[in-house]
Amino acid sequence: MQSILLGVLLALTTIVSASCPSAMPLSLCCLTLEPFSANEYVWENECGATVPDTSLLTASGCEVNVPCEGQEWEGMYAACCEEYLNCPSEDGAVAYNCTGTVVE
Ligand SMILES: *[C@@H]1O[C@H](CO)[C@@H](O)[C@H](O)[C@H]1NC(C)=O
Repeated sequence: MQSILLGVLLALTTIVSASCPSAMPLSLCCLTLEPFSANEYVWENECGATVPDTSLLTASGCEVNVPCEGQEWEGMYAACCEEYLNCPSEDGAVAYNCTGTVVE
């Protein structure tokens, strides 16, 4: 019985993570989702990241493989991103070139 439930959960997780378009395949749950320029100093000086377009949305404090919906995740951003920025952050991954919506 428990393994059936686990199977259903895994199937749902797969559906959720497959919901991002192939051009932006990273399905993430993030604390912030702002233009790169909003936090440019940090990205450039702490991560050494330079990007071609600083107006593109950049997500930080990202977790992978979490449901990112419902009350528990309220205020987080369910985001789809094109690539990770190599940024050492205790808060989670940083990703560039994203789209997303806030969890309500
Ligand atoms: C952002 O992602 C889109 C979709 O993959 C891609 O076409 C575009 O070139 C990317 N832009 C940058 C600056 O990486």
